[in-house]
Amino acid sequence: MNVIHLSAECYPVAKVGGLGDVVAALPKYQQLAGESAIVVLPYYDRKFVQENNFDVILEAEITMGGTILPFQILKESTDKLGFPLHLIRIPGLLDRTEIYSYPDETEQFIAFQLAFLEWLTYFEIRPDIIHCHDHHTGLIPFLLSHSIKYGQFADIPTVLTIHNAQYQGWIGWEKFYYLPEIDPASLGLLEWGDCINPLASAVKCCWAYTAVSPTYLQELSYHANGLESLFAAESTKGFGIINGIDTDIWNPESDPMISVNYNTQNVAERKQENKKLVCKEFGLSISKPLVAFIGRLVGEKGADLLPEAITRVLTELKGELNIVILGSGDGVIEDELAGILESFKKEYNVFIGYNEALSHRIYAGADFLLMPSRVEPCGLNQLYSLKYGTMPIVRSTGGLKDTVIDITVPGGYGICFDEASADDIVTAIKRAVELYKTTDELNLLRTQMMTLDYSWNQSANQYIDLYNSLK
Ligand code: ADP
Ligand code: GLC
Repeated sequence: MNVIHLSAECYPVAKVGGLGDVVAALPKYQQLAGESAIVVLPYYDRKFVQENNFDVILEAEITMGGTILPFQILKESTDKLGFPLHLIRIPGLLDRTEIYSYPDETEQFIAFQLAFLEWLTYFEIRPDIIHCHDHHTGLIPFLLSHSIKYGQFADIPTVLTIHNAQYQGWIGWEKFYYLPEIDPASLGLLEWGDCINPLASAVKCCWAYTAVSPTYLQELSYHANGLESLFAAESTKGFGIINGIDTDIWNPESDPMISVNYNTQNVAERKQENKKLVCKEFGLSISKPLVAFIGRLVGEKGADLLPEAITRVLTELKGELNIVILGSGDGVIEDELAGILESFKKEYNVFIGYNEALSHRIYAGADFLLMPSRVEPCGLNQLYSLKYGTMPIVRSTGGLKDTVIDITVPGGYGICFDEASADDIVTAIKRAVELYKTTDELNLLRTQMMTLDYSWNQSANQYIDLYNSLK
């Protein structure tokens, strides 16, 4: 089967969060399962692109709103990521250093999608599946079935994966003229709430959609940033497939980004070595439980609750634990997290910024990983932390609910709480501090969580089964 994944992110070319990890891993595991899966991304002027060889395989042009835009399709020459990687380059729009947040993001992603469709007209063999990820590629299912020019491809099944329905890519109708000629009877399929809504349009027009966990699929019908009724109406073509992790990259036994590798046999001693290094890096104490947070500093992740929760727990349990934060995002939250440094010099530290290698060191060195998310479609951090024997402390929502079982339940290996509130975070951290005192029990739990199988093997096959059901 020939599958094309279309996305804005793919690690290590371009990653802001879990979308990048998933679009790097899923196609690789599909290839390993014997399918042909390729990835198509915008061209980015970033390290991976600068340091690797690409062949130009097509030069053509699109028209967007009356402007002719020449584009190139480039292919990474060695398939070193485990699948063929293609980039679409359009000078001025798709040749940037950053992935998001440009004022003309609408033009950027419409141009990406139009160039992909144009490229499709040059294919010698039709793909069997076009797999779109998130709203950046959300106009594709509509354009494939309802544009005059690309309607010839209406019989190619499309799958949409919803990594996060909070972001929908809203476009004002005044920009409708960017799109190619469209069957006027179909205009309603673009709209949701008085604007062009690429995510809503994709849900309406795709052949099937997936949410990145079964619980998130259910949540979408009552918590989807305005699209609840749409998800309820389209639910028969919705599937919940949990993400996996790429164990070639996320494996404490072989991870080159950590100083001391370990496995279930030696986790007790060797994890301590990693902890020692992280504590040294952040001026913290090796003898105290180390709780970490890694992630985007936004309300969705509950990051706004951290300054109050950290202040309270470090005051109430004076000297009993350490906390470290790695993240970036909302400037107010960043300032608040930096602002409390002064009060807890030996117990707390924060790194504001994005640092892939540091994240690996923290997963390996921390005792606990906190995720107080308000919305968490899947969450990969808890899966990485499980693999590294670091106990997740999570708010039970979305994928966190599907992957973390509280230690009070037989077979459980995490700490779960219900409310995204400072109160619940403080209580959960206090439970972690108590658990830390029972070294043998915690070490046993670490071994147990490290043996859980959250690899992609099973989920990659679930996607393949879904594709087969659409042919
Ligand atoms: P989301 O995609 O919503 O941000 P996920 O849990 O799916 O959440 O994935 C987050 C990914 O981004 C993980 O690989 C995590 O380690 C990484 N990450 C988030 N923030 C940072 C950061 N500041 N530095 C390094 N890695 C980060
Ligand atoms: C999104 C979600 C996150 C999920 C990731 C990968 O960014 O916020 O929960 O793990 O996509 O699917």
